[in-house]
Amino acid sequence: MDLYEHQARELFAEHGIVVPRAEVTDSPARAREIARALGGRAVVKAQVKTGGRGKAGGVRLAADPAAAEEASRHILGMDIKGHRVEAVMLAEPVDIQQEFYVSYVLDRAAGGFLAVASAEGGTEIEEVAAERPEAVVRVPVDPAAGLTTATAVRIADAAGLPPQSVDVLVRLWQVLVREDALLVEVNPLVRTVDGRIVALDGKVTLDDNAHFRQTRWGERHATAADPLEARAAAKGLNYVKLDGEVGVIGNGAGLVMSTLDVVAGCGARPANFLDIGGGASARVMADGLSVVLSDPAVKSVLVNVFGGITACDAVADGIVRALDEVRPTKPIVVRLDGNSAARGRALLDARAHPLVEQATTMDGAASRAARHATAAPTAG
Ligand SMILES: Nc1ncnc2c1ncn2[C@@H]1O[C@H](COP(=O)(O)OP(=O)(O)O)[C@@H](O)[C@H]1O
Ligand SMILES: [Mg+2]
Repeated sequence: MDLYEHQARELFAEHGIVVPRAEVTDSPARAREIARALGGRAVVKAQVKTGGRGKAGGVRLAADPAAAEEASRHILGMDIKGHRVEAVMLAEPVDIQQEFYVSYVLDRAAGGFLAVASAEGGTEIEEVAAERPEAVVRVPVDPAAGLTTATAVRIADAAGLPPQSVDVLVRLWQVLVREDALLVEVNPLVRTVDGRIVALDGKVTLDDNAHFRQTRWGERHATAADPLEARAAAKGLNYVKLDGEVGVIGNGAGLVMSTLDVVAGCGARPANFLDIGGGASARVMADGLSVVLSDPAVKSVLVNVFGGITACDAVADGIVRALDEVRPTKPIVVRLDGNSAARGRALLDARAHPLVEQATTMDGAASRAARHATAAPTAG
C-alpha cells in the first residue's frame, strides 16, 4: 500500500528527518487559516498517490493566506493522472539551494534493497536515469546486515550529496525497516539557502504482508479499496476487480493470469482476477463464486482449474455445494483438468445444473464464457 505524502512526512518526522511544518485539509477556508499560522506564505500540495503533481499543477506557491485559499480551491477536486484530489497539504515554503534524490527500493531479483541517490533531484528519477545515467548512483544494501554508516557515507560521496545527508540516509533506512516498507523515497531532499537538509516530498510503499503488525494505516486502507475487493479481502480471497464482464476464478496466480489473457484473446474482457489457491475447498469456492457473481458487471463466469495437489473432484464438490448456497443467475463455464479431472467432471454432470456447462480445454472454456458475456443480456 502506498501512503500519501502527508503520511510519509509524518513517518519521516518521527524518525528525526527534518520536514517543513505542514497541515492537511479539505477546506479552502481552513487552508487560509493554516497559511496564516505558517507565517502567511505556503506551498499548497495536492494529496494524491501519484508523482508528478508539480507538473500537473498540483503544487502551487501561495504568497499570502488569501492566495493559499484560492490555490486550494483550484487544486481540490482536480484530477491528476486519474486520481481525484480530496485533500491538500499546506507546507511552509523553504528557500532551496539544491535538490537531491534519495530512496531505498526493494530489488526482488537481487533479494535485497537498492539505495538510489542523485544530486539531480526534483524531477522524476526515471527521467534523470534515462538522460544522464551517470548522475544516478545505485548501491545494494543487504537487508540482513542493514545499512551501515560506512555505506551511507559511500552513497552520499558517490552521488555528490552534501555530508549532512548521511544522517538522513541512516534515518531513512530506519523508516524502511521499522515501518516494513518496500520503498521509501525523498524527492526532493533539499539543501536550503541557510544550509539545512530538508525532505520536501516523500513516497512510502508499505509491505501489505506486514499489515498484521502495522495496523496504523489500516482503516484508511479498508475504506480506500473497491467495495468488492473489500468484501473479498474480508473473506481472505485473492481478488482484484477489473473492468470487464467475464468473471474469472482459477487456482494459482499464473493460471489465473493466463486465463485473463485467453479471455481477452476471445474478444471479451475479464471482470476480475481471483486465485482460489491450492487446496480450494467448497467454502473457498462458494465465497469466490458469491463475490464474483455479486459484481453487477459480470455476465458469465469462467472457472478454470488445473488439478495438481488439489484434486478436481474436491473442486467439483466445492462448486456443487456453492451452487446450492449462491444460487447463480448467470452462466458458469467450468474447465477441470489434471488430477482427478474425470471424477470431477462426472460430479458436475451428475448435478446437471442448468447454468453450468463444462469444457475440456482452457481455450474452449474461455471462448464459451466470452460468447455468453458478449451475447444478449442475461437476467440478474
Ligand atoms: N515546502 C516547499 N518549499 C519550497 N518548494 C517546494 C516545497 N515543496 C515542494 N516544493 C517544490 O515543488 C517541487 C514539486 O513538489 P513535490 O512535492 O516534489 O511534488 P511532485 O514530486 O509530485 O511533483 C519540488 O521539487 C520543489 O521544488
Ligand atoms: Mg517530488
